[in-house]
Amino acid sequence: LKYSTARFLTSAPTLAKCPVDSGVEVAFAGRSNAGKSSAINAITQQKALARTSKTPGRTQLINIFSLGDDVDRRLVDLPGYGYAKVPENIKQEWQRHLSDYLHRRASLKGLVLVMDVRHPLTEFDLDLLEVADDRDLPVHILLTKADKLKKGAAKNALQQVRSRLREWEDLISIQLFSSLKRQGVEDVHQRLDSWMED
Ligand code: GTP
Ligand code: MG
Repeated sequence: LKYSTARFLTSAPTLAKCPVDSGVEVAFAGRSNAGKSSAINAITQQKALARTSKTPGRTQLINIFSLGDDVDRRLVDLPGYGYAKVPENIKQEWQRHLSDYLHRRASLKGLVLVMDVRHPLTEFDLDLLEVADDRDLPVHILLTKADKLKKGAAKNALQQVRSRLREWEDLISIQLFSSLKRQGVEDVHQRLDSWMED
């Protein structure tokens, strides 16, 4: 599939405001500032399709992109979780909308879990794997910002995460990634194809 044809479809504050729940959706989830929006831009080969920021908490809505005019194939940029500086009540509200989306979105066929290779497997990441497991939803893990580590250190991080997630191995796949260097983009395309092509 041609991910470079992706274009902005809509933003939704809640599950109820998301577009019709048909076709196939793949959502990018992960901790605030992990690099989800940057990963979407690297994967779609566009500079500013998804808005990125140095300030954690940039993405506050469910942002939905279609592959060209095909509204039945969608990529979704989710708000990051775990950002401490947002007021508690707002945080709980985001968390609830996110949880609704993850549990109840029927067209959601795969999750891309984005983790900073230097800070993988936070409590929230593990919660997310539980939710995916409940739904039998496959998860592709991007250990991103791999450019921040030397090659050997990045490889070690990958091995460590693999072994810590052995119990989920039927559900998940894992790779190193860098939006900055566009490392690993082809592998993500293949995974997305496997979910989106049928
Ligand atoms: P929220 O929307 O706040 O949840 O964040 P996000 O997960 O969408 O992160 P975003 O893509 O906005 O990136 C956060 C910061 O990390 C930005 O300053 C990016 O430039 C930087 N960043 C993202 N990916 C990479 C990468 O692969 N390498 C490097 N070096 N920096 C990256
Ligand atoms: Mg974002």
